[in-house]
Formats: sequence, C-alpha cells, structure tokens
Amino acid sequence: MENDIAKILLPEREILQRLDELAACITRDFQGQLMSVVGILNGSCIFLADLLRRIPLPLTVECVPAASYHGGTTSSGKVEIPLRDPPLLRRRGVLLVDDILDTGRTLAAVRQFLIERAGAQHVRTCVLLRKAVSRAVEIEPDYVAFDIPNEFVVGYGLDYMGHYRNLPFIGVLTPEAIARLAPGSMSRETPT
Ligand code: IMP
Ligand code: MG
Repeated sequence: MENDIAKILLPEREILQRLDELAACITRDFQGQLMSVVGILNGSCIFLADLLRRIPLPLTVECVPAASYHGGTTSSGKVEIPLRDPPLLRRRGVLLVDDILDTGRTLAAVRQFLIERAGAQHVRTCVLLRKAVSRAVEIEPDYVAFDIPNEFVVGYGLDYMGHYRNLPFIGVLTPEAIARLAPGSMSRETPT
C-alpha cells in the first residue's frame, strides 16, 4: 500500500503534535458548556478518535454519514446525509468534525442539518485539512489543523475509492495508483 504513495505531506508525528494544540484550544473554548462532538463519516473517523481523547471535558459523541465524493478524485456537487433520525442536540454546543474542507459543501450541509433538524444551540466547525481552493460554499472553519495545497490526499481517514484510510500519515498517490483503482479500470482493484 505504501508503494502507491508519491510523497508524504504530513507524517504521523506532526499530525499528533498539532492535535495536542488544537485540542487545548477546543477544551478552553467549550469549558462549562453542554458539549457534543459530531464526526462526519467516514473520513473523520481517525481524526475524531485521536482528537476526542485529547479533550478532557464531559461530552457526548455522535456520527453523521455524509458524502459528496462518489468515488474518484472530484466532488459530485451534491451532499447526501443518509440518516433516518437526527441526533438529539437541543441546548448543546456542538463541535462538528470533518477530515477536509474542499468545496465546503459537506461541512455547510451538515452544519445546517444539525441546527435545523437536530436543534443544536451553536455549531463550531473543525477540520483536519483545509485545501487551498476557491470554495463552492462560503464557510470558514473555527478550527483548522493544517492548510494544504490543492492536491488529492489520502491516509489518516481520507480515502481514494474506499482505500488508504488506514495509512497513519497523509500523502499523495502516484498517478499509477490513481489509474489502477479508477472507476472502470480493468486492472487490479486493491492497492499494492
Ligand atoms: P467538500 O464537500 O467538497 O468540502 O468535500 C469534503 C469531503 O470530500 C470530505 O469529507 C472528504 O471525504 C472528501 N474529500 C475532499 N478532498 C479530498 C481529498 O483530497 N482526499 C480524500 N477525500 C477528499
Ligand atoms: Mg471520502
């Protein structure tokens, strides 16, 4: 699997060091509130787990599935939240966590969902990565771990065609790996 990585953008050590700083800010800001943390699945799962364990406050955890990428490296433009019942967040201060801010559509759609359907009192947003692109939707996260250039990245929860989430670092795929796993590709369907 690591053969498919062209370059490492963020090594694991650097990610975890930055999470210590980010969690300290979040802990200070949410002190004394009824706090819930909501992670957007699947991409935020690893970031969420590492971040949560650095926030020593009483809190509840919810996960909301959302997808705007339907395979490949470009956004489909439409965000789906396939959830029958919204979590109950009345009177709660919510920290909404996602892996990456790209077009902004996912974060904006889930934020609106939590306010309108789940009754959250306020929602602060937190992303591991903020990509340097012009956003389709105006949204500035309250907490950002890293700014990255406009490249498609994998690892530490981020996937390409469902793969590479379990890499402990964040990296960029080789063109060969992208082509091999591309939708409709006739070659092998698993990373090497
Ligand atoms: P947005 O709605 O365009 O901001 O996209 C956010 C979602 O797209 C994230 O939750 C990711 O799942 C996915 N995504 C965006 N950029 C990347 C990337 O570089 N690698 C992997 N997934 C990405
Ligand atoms: Mg994804």
